[in-house]
Amino acid sequence: MIIQPRTRGFICLTAHPDGALQAVKNQIEYVKSKGKIKNGPKKVLVIGASTGFGLSSRIAAAFGSDAATIGVFFEKPASEGKMGTAGWYNSAAFEKEAHAAGLYAKSINGDAFSDDIKKQTIDLIKKDLGQVDLVVYSLASPRRTHPKTGVAYASVLKPIGQPFTNKTVDFHTGVISDITINPVENDEDIANTIAVMGGEDWKFWIEDLKAAGVLAAGVKTVAYSYIGPELTFPIYRNGTIGQAKNDLEATVPVLNDLLKDLHGVSYVSVNKALVTQSSSAIPVVPLYISLLYKVMKAKGTHEGTIEQMQRLFADRLYTENGEVALDSEGRIRIDDWEMAEDVQAEVAKYWDKVTTETLAEISDIDGYRKEFFNLFGFELEGVDYEKDTDENVKVPSIES
Ligand code: NAI
Repeated sequence: MIIQPRTRGFICLTAHPDGALQAVKNQIEYVKSKGKIKNGPKKVLVIGASTGFGLSSRIAAAFGSDAATIGVFFEKPASEGKMGTAGWYNSAAFEKEAHAAGLYAKSINGDAFSDDIKKQTIDLIKKDLGQVDLVVYSLASPRRTHPKTGVAYASVLKPIGQPFTNKTVDFHTGVISDITINPVENDEDIANTIAVMGGEDWKFWIEDLKAAGVLAAGVKTVAYSYIGPELTFPIYRNGTIGQAKNDLEATVPVLNDLLKDLHGVSYVSVNKALVTQSSSAIPVVPLYISLLYKVMKAKGTHEGTIEQMQRLFADRLYTENGEVALDSEGRIRIDDWEMAEDVQAEVAKYWDKVTTETLAEISDIDGYRKEFFNLFGFELEGVDYEKDTDENVKVPSIES
C-alpha cells in the first residue's frame, strides 16, 4: 500500500517501514562515523528500545561497541487494515541491520512493567548471553499496571499548587496560543505519576536480574531524566512528571547498594529536550524545543537522540580513564549544551518575542515538524513514498 502520514494532535496514526529503515540506517552511519567506543559495553539490555533515546542507546551500543543487544518494548505489528507502530518498524530495521553486521540482536515485545516480561527477558539472557554488562532503562509510558498488586496507574502532566499559563504551539498549524493547565487536585495524581514514571520498576528490573544471576561483575545501569529551563519548570521539573523524575533519581543510591557486591553502578543521565513521541505530548515543551533547535543549530551544538547517546557512551559512561563526570547531585549531564548560559539566554529572549506571526522566522518549527514526521518514518531523504510498500514487516527474532 501507499503509506501516508495521518495525524491526530501529537499522535501519528501511521508509520512507514522503509522510512523507519532509513532513519535507523542514518543513526547507524552517524555512530560508525564517530569510530569505536573504547571499553564500551558488550552485552546490553535496553528496556524501551524501540524509539527515542532507547533505540539510539541500542544503536550506539551495537554499532559503536559491537555489543550484543536485547531490546524490550511495547509495540504493535501490522494487523488487518492497520499499520504497525513506528517502534515496531524501527526494531525490524535495527535487527536487520545488526544481523547483517554480524551482531546478536533479539527483541521482546510486551509490557516491561510485568513480571512475565521480566522473566522472559531473564530466560533469554540466560540462554543466549549468560549475563549483561549494561542495562539501559528508557521507558516512557502514560500508564503502568503494578505487577505485585495489579493496580493500574495513569500518569498526568500537570503543575502542582497553582495553575500554569504560558504559550504553546500547535506544531501542525504553527498557531501559538496561551494555555492554562490546572494543577493537580489531589496528591493521588502525583503518586500515580510517580508509580508510572518513577524508579520502582527500574528497581524491580535490577532486583530480578540480579537475583537470576544475569548481571555481570562491574555491570552498569542507566536511566534517563530531564530538567530543562525555568520556563517549563511548572509543567515539567516542578510538576507531576518532575516528582517522578525525583523518584527515579533517588533510586540511584538504592541500586548502587544493591549492585555493590557485583562492583556494579547505576546512573541517571539528564538528557537534552528532543522531539520524541513522549515529549510532543507535553504542552509548552514543543515551542521551547522549536526555539532551542534554532539557537543550538545556529551555534553548531544541536544534537538528536543518536548524537546524545553516542556522546553519553563515549564521553561519559565509557571514558578511557574509567571516570564518569557527575554533577553535584550525582547525575550525568548531557543536557550541558542545552543548558549553556548563552543558549538559554537566547531562547528566553525569543520566548518573549515569539507569536504566530514570528514563529517561522525566529524558531525552527520546520525542523520540529520534520523530526516529528521522521519519528514515524516520513519525510526522510532517499525514501520513495510513492512506492507500494508492504506494511507486514517482521521483527526477525519475534514469532508472529
Ligand atoms: P519514547 O516514547 O520515544 O520511547 C519510549 C519507549 O518505551 C519505547 O520503546 C516504548 O515501546 C517503550 N515502552 C513504553 N511503555 C512500555 C511498556 N509498558 N513495556 C515495554 N516498553 C514500553 O520516549 P523517550 O522520549 O525516548 O523517553 C525515554 C526516557 O528518556 C524517558 O524516561 C524520558 O522521560 C527521558 N527523557 C526524554 C527527553 C525528551 O525530550 N524526549 C529528555 C530527557 C529525558
